[in-house]
Amino acid sequence: MKRVAILISGSGSNMIKLCESMVGKHPARPVIVISSFSGSEGLTYATNIGLKAVVVEFGLFPKDNFGFEAAITEELTLASPDIICLAGFMHILSRSFLKKFANKIINIHPSLLPKYKGLNTHKRAISAGDFEAGCTVHKVTEELDGGPILGQGKVLIDKNETPESLAAKVLKLEHTLYPLVLKKFAAAAIDQTEIILSNS
Ligand code: GRF
Repeated sequence: MKRVAILISGSGSNMIKLCESMVGKHPARPVIVISSFSGSEGLTYATNIGLKAVVVEFGLFPKDNFGFEAAITEELTLASPDIICLAGFMHILSRSFLKKFANKIINIHPSLLPKYKGLNTHKRAISAGDFEAGCTVHKVTEELDGGPILGQGKVLIDKNETPESLAAKVLKLEHTLYPLVLKKFAAAAIDQTEIILSNS
């Protein structure tokens, strides 16, 4: 059984969907949730299902990314994960951190990569006049949002779409895509783009 650590910063809705999916014959189980923000709603869910939930408060490490990552590394070392899922984890990880956990880290990004790396993806897609948007699960490498793509989900951008309405549509698709990709990744059955979802 593969051990999965999930790193979050916000509401943790993707983390919840990942945890809910790891049951029965699924080849993985969650072992720890680490949040960089003590106010994350997802922490309550993790605690309630008896999962180890740890806060490594980013705000307590001003200008000390090394210290922040060292605290996360300590928790991960104890939890000994085979896979680390970034799920709304809003920090860029250093080269040395990525090296320590090479080939184990995957992320979900709210755009159809390689388009719109970084922030404000929905606003940028609408401003560009794109007719479709979506989300991507990819392996995490040193290049920001640039690692090998494992799966994508697509939605159509409506005529009166706003960044908020698009974010809601895409998030819904993230909740389906991420568990599907994780399951394949945990079974070592996926190493490149394989899953394409479309709600159109
Ligand atoms: C998701 O849209 C994810 O792709 C992005 O941040 C959001 C996190 O949502 N990076 P949640 O914390 O999983 O609810």
